[in-house]
Amino acid sequence: MAIAVADEALEARLRARLASVEIALAQDVRSRAPFVAEAASHLMAAGGKRFRPLLVLLAAECGPRTESADVEVAARAVELVHLASLYHDDVMDEALVRRSADSANARYDNRVAILTGDWLFARSSELTAQLGPEAVRIQAETFGRLVEGQILEGVTPTGDAVEHHLEVVAGKTGALLATSARYGAMFSGASAEIVAALTEYGELIGTAFQLSDDILDIASDESGKTPGTDLREGVPTLPTLLARANGETAVLDALAGDLTQDAPLAAAVAVLRESKSLQAAREYVIGEAERAKAVLSVVPDGSVRTALVAFADAVATRTR
Ligand code: FPP
Ligand code: MG
Ligand code: MG
Repeated sequence: MAIAVADEALEARLRARLASVEIALAQDVRSRAPFVAEAASHLMAAGGKRFRPLLVLLAAECGPRTESADVEVAARAVELVHLASLYHDDVMDEALVRRSADSANARYDNRVAILTGDWLFARSSELTAQLGPEAVRIQAETFGRLVEGQILEGVTPTGDAVEHHLEVVAGKTGALLATSARYGAMFSGASAEIVAALTEYGELIGTAFQLSDDILDIASDESGKTPGTDLREGVPTLPTLLARANGETAVLDALAGDLTQDAPLAAAVAVLRESKSLQAAREYVIGEAERAKAVLSVVPDGSVRTALVAFADAVATRTR
């Protein structure tokens, strides 16, 4: 997902600022201990979309103090929390590849990956402390929601499985995106009304972003992941949960096969691609993006609101 902003001056400003955040992030992962610096810079150097810093910077366009140095500190802090969570996530998921590179657990081992995640979270906390007690409180709350989402992911739902999945996704991804947009609005001095709206906007596009991943697992040949990976591994996704909730028999029959085998897996992907449940999942994601756009009504009309609207659309319709 590239930056696509209609206003050229705004786009140039965001690009320049993102470049400055990037340079600072490379410094943030330095350590006096060379091995710590190497392990901590491993995933940062491997790539990443810098989606969260971009959201901080874009949200900061809504306040009178867009250029405030605190905005860039906040952009670095949220990216470091995200990076920390990836080190831990790959240990839990036993993932060997991240950002087309070896995951930290594959390159080093679980111990190094876990401790490097902790170290990155500590670095993020140092930055957040520079932003004052309210930012620290928000970071603590966000961290709690991230961890809750991750814990719930491993818990078998006792109630509605779709609701459970939405709760997991809101915690895992919505929370940090909400905080990214909130920090941008807060540290640029936007009004309380705009800060609240941007927080909700971030939460909604975060949810849409993570749920679109569920759709890409089935629908995309260009996502950078093998189609059907979640199906093969039995990971619940919105389309399959909707198929179960709505009793879409063609899908349920296809899912009943041994999806660890290539032929039944390919058949299930083909059935799901044509299913009502995939369509319903797409509509849900588009609905979340529409809700995100609706909360922007308090942002004055202009190039910044247009860019935020385009950002929400890009999240909902991404193909990779
Ligand atoms: C990726 O999900 C994982 C997350 C978005 C968040 C994981 C949260 C934690 C590990 C909590 C600990 C947090 C910190 C800050 C140390 P995924 O596994 O579904 O997606 P993937 O395809 O990117 O692996
Ligand atoms: Mg994972
Ligand atoms: Mg995971």
